[in-house]
Amino acid sequence: TVYFIDGQFTERDGLAISIDDRGYYFGDGVYEVIKVYGGELYTAEEHIDRLFQSATKIKMTIPYAEVQLMEIARELVAKNNILVGHVYIQVTRGSAPRMHQFPDPTVPPVVTGYAINNPRPMMGIENGVGVKSVADVRWLRCDIKSLNLLGNVLAKQEAHEAGCIEALLHRDGVVTEGSASNMFGVKGGTVYTHPVTNLILNGITRQVVLGLCEEQGIPVVEKSFTIDEAFEMDEFFLTSTTSEVTPVISIDGRPVSSGILGPLTMKLQKAFSSQIP
Ligand code: PDD
Repeated sequence: TVYFIDGQFTERDGLAISIDDRGYYFGDGVYEVIKVYGGELYTAEEHIDRLFQSATKIKMTIPYAEVQLMEIARELVAKNNILVGHVYIQVTRGSAPRMHQFPDPTVPPVVTGYAINNPRPMMGIENGVGVKSVADVRWLRCDIKSLNLLGNVLAKQEAHEAGCIEALLHRDGVVTEGSASNMFGVKGGTVYTHPVTNLILNGITRQVVLGLCEEQGIPVVEKSFTIDEAFEMDEFFLTSTTSEVTPVISIDGRPVSSGILGPLTMKLQKAFSSQIP
């Protein structure tokens, strides 16, 4: 595997990250996962744009221009011969002796990245998945794609231990998103999802799917709903870069509607599949 680290492309053996890296100490950094289809980056501009937005929100300056990061992502895909997979890019606030406050501004952020082959998760996409409701105990800046993922990790693990693919996060019963995905319910032909606030990450796939809804004439209401309302939905699905549009057929072991794939979800899946390279 060819990695990008410290301004260079290198084989794994050459990788060296400082023990003083603030990503390692504090999760002090931001990241993106960009999908690759047919050897091409998918919605890369949106992802790189969001990476810069996340960096700005944590008062960090990425030492590259957006076009340069795009080129690095492209080269990672090419050097690793990725056909279907993803690129991971992470930027930390650099390496400095451990102290909570920011290091001296001369300390450069550390940019790393790699590309791996990763097939589309057709099992989940075609058959649907189960989710487990988990209290969303994360901080109040979930709009930032930060490396601080302990809340997400613990939620995902709890779901995993219950035999579920994903956690359905809720704050006091109000559904926010998944541990690494956005959540959608369908009721009476209308798609419901949490509005863009500090409580969710505005997923790129979420935005693509909302655009597809508009194209298909499917009404969307960006309004939060409760876990109790989630149980009553006609259809339920989640979206993310890696899981695309994945139907949710059960919540806490209770089938959503009749527990089979819903027609609107399948319509959106079809529309999604037809616009990827
Ligand atoms: N997760 N919400 C959270 C908390 C996420 O971590 C993600 C993405 C999403 C969906 O965003 P997008 O559609 O832009 O991938 C929503 C990535 C894939 C991850 O951490 O692996």
